[in-house]
Amino acid sequence: MALYSEKVMDHFMNPRNVGIIENADGVGEVGNARCGDIMKIYLKIENDIIKDVKFETFGCASAIASSSMATELIKGKPVSEALTLTNKAVAEALDGLPKHKIHCSVLAEEAIKKALDDYNSKK
Ligand code: FES
Repeated sequence: MALYSEKVMDHFMNPRNVGIIENADGVGEVGNARCGDIMKIYLKIENDIIKDVKFETFGCASAIASSSMATELIKGKPVSEALTLTNKAVAEALDGLPKHKIHCSVLAEEAIKKALDDYNSKK
């Protein structure tokens, strides 16, 4: 079996929502000290709905695919729903990640939670 699913490869090769949002309503940055990968999420929120989301990820293929999929999963969703996004849901949406790459999807969950906390703290 291939190490990565087709979905992981697709989101790694053609990541969705790459970039930054100027004057974002919430920004979250997290890193993993072990692998040194860094992920940053920007949110544009109107009436508690995530109108736009962008990410910058300096990391491995799984981290990029996880950020891409996670941003797709929360786009257009209410803040309350985005807060419940788990790394498991991200990994499942990617048709799975290798065991030793699960922490890459955790980074996506944490970055989104941090950006939402930032948004909530500014309200
Ligand atoms: Fe660290 Fe993927 S190896 S985020």
